[in-house]
Amino acid sequence: MADTEVDWAVLEAAAVAAMGKAYAPYSKFPVGAAALTEDGRIVSGCNVENASYGLTLCAECALVGDLHMGGGGRLRAFYCVDAKGNVLMPCGRCRQLLYEFRAPGMQLMTTQGIKTMDQVLPDAFGPDNLEENL
Ligand code: THU
Repeated sequence: MADTEVDWAVLEAAAVAAMGKAYAPYSKFPVGAAALTEDGRIVSGCNVENASYGLTLCAECALVGDLHMGGGGRLRAFYCVDAKGNVLMPCGRCRQLLYEFRAPGMQLMTTQGIKTMDQVLPDAFGPDNLEENL
């Protein structure tokens, strides 16, 4: 991990900007997410809902798409907000999405302050588990 400090205010602003692009006509619960990559890029995403409710894409889905389309890499720090700009915890599925692309020691802003990915998704299943079975 780079040794510079994470600028959480920049991430918060990017998450709020992403939230402003949300398509959430059904839940009326817009969400924005932003993350800092190991190489210093900011990636972001918003939730995109669907008339078939179960097909809703969380903000984190768009964020990992943005990461991959922008050259890939790993996530160093993550911030997610609701419509009021309050910190939002990623849902269980999205914790798994983020885990896949975590940098070592990845941090997340949570409702309880900064936590590591391992604290937010303990005992995770991940790519290493697949390797073990080859
Ligand atoms: N949502 C996200 O975008 N990310 C999460 O981690 C939690 C939930 C969205 C999905 C849906 O559009 C709305 O919030 C209400 O569940």
